[in-house]
Amino acid sequence: MSRIEEESHIFTLDPERRYPTLVRGEGVYLYDDEGKQYLDGIAGIGVACIGYGRTRVAEAMAAQASKLPYAASNIFGNEPAIQLAGQLAELTPGDLQYFQLTSGGSESVEVCIKLCRQYYYERGRADKHKMISRWQSYHGATLGALSVTGLVGRRKKFLPLLLDWPHIAPAYCYRCPFDRSYPGCDMACAHALEATIQETGAELVMGLIAEPVVGAAGAALVPPPEYWPIVRDVCDRHDVLLIADEVFTGFGRTGRNFAVDHWNVVPDMIAMAKGISGGYAPLGAVAISQRIREVFERGGTPFDHIFTYSGSPITAAAACESLKIWKEEGLTANAASVGKYFMEQLRSLLEHCMVGDVRGIGLMAGIEFVQDRATKEPFPPECLVAKQIGMVALQKGLVTYPSTGMVDGVRGDAISLFPPLTFTEQHVDELVSKLHDTVAQLERILAIR
Ligand SMILES: Cc1ncc(COP(=O)(O)O)c(C=O)c1O
Repeated sequence: MSRIEEESHIFTLDPERRYPTLVRGEGVYLYDDEGKQYLDGIAGIGVACIGYGRTRVAEAMAAQASKLPYAASNIFGNEPAIQLAGQLAELTPGDLQYFQLTSGGSESVEVCIKLCRQYYYERGRADKHKMISRWQSYHGATLGALSVTGLVGRRKKFLPLLLDWPHIAPAYCYRCPFDRSYPGCDMACAHALEATIQETGAELVMGLIAEPVVGAAGAALVPPPEYWPIVRDVCDRHDVLLIADEVFTGFGRTGRNFAVDHWNVVPDMIAMAKGISGGYAPLGAVAISQRIREVFERGGTPFDHIFTYSGSPITAAAACESLKIWKEEGLTANAASVGKYFMEQLRSLLEHCMVGDVRGIGLMAGIEFVQDRATKEPFPPECLVAKQIGMVALQKGLVTYPSTGMVDGVRGDAISLFPPLTFTEQHVDELVSKLHDTVAQLERILAIR
């Protein structure tokens, strides 16, 4: 244990775990205080999209800190925030042209929930107050965001504090919740939304929030192409707002600027964070449609909401510069092209019999582990397979993200990978080789073969 760790007063998440202390990042690599190098297979947690060590972003932040570090968003506008909203408006689909700025993903989800509610309130439909979401999803750690989150394990200890809102099954083809297989499934997962709206009462339902491609909660669940257009249609027919949580998938992660762009679906709001500032500052945003904006304009009504750090000039300056780099270097296109190679190479892991599924899109992938490939029987939770894979990979200098509860919220192990969008084919080769070594070592530990 290093001296810094020994003297730490940080209330760490897991008191039994040793957390190496990072001191530096360069490109796609991280370095700890003992000089160990790690290939970052998860871009922080999906944030460091432009890679580490970008002095241009640091300089933009420093310049803004000297000029104007803070502006209260209920009294003033500020230049970097206005510029950022303009840059975002060039990227978002359809009429999503207005932006609320936040300090991260959970805050963005809270804004979506509250804005959805106030939209119906202002329209004279105050009964509408229930948000539908999906199992096997993650929307954040705050109580509203955790209420819509569908990870049973993460919700369990906080259940009495959460809002009792409906969850529907996800689009999860490897373990279809309806025991069907695509394409002969009639898209039961998408149509389940309509059934739930009807059971709950359309007059009470205000929105659906879902990740277009499920991030770490589902280890990169990509829905069939029909899924999102059906969901959009169901929402429209029942006057329910569609909220895409693109905190993970936004800003090129899946090979398109936003994941909904794959299916030409325009939601009513998009929650974003992570890649927006490349990890250089804590920032999130919500893209809001013209239709929603009009209701507030018509009534001359303010949105009853504020965060102190909403639209902070320093974080907005970081995002403006980070997004310029992201655009100049064509990182969405890079995620699409290197992403194809990434998925091809990751499929070689299927040679290990404990690998049940390899899935994903762009630079967003999941690898699911099973005891028996034919029956898809997961490992018992006490084997801690995902956690062990993560620990062994870390020893080998590769950062991965353990995902658990794939089957029923408790059983089922996977790891998720979402490297910086600056990844090259050489980085993919290095990552895949380390992953082969890791899985082989775990097979020896678990005495498989
Ligand atoms: C899809 C999604 N939504 C919301 C969040 C919450 O974001 P934050 O941790 O920045 O609050 C996350 C975080 O991983 C996420 O993946």
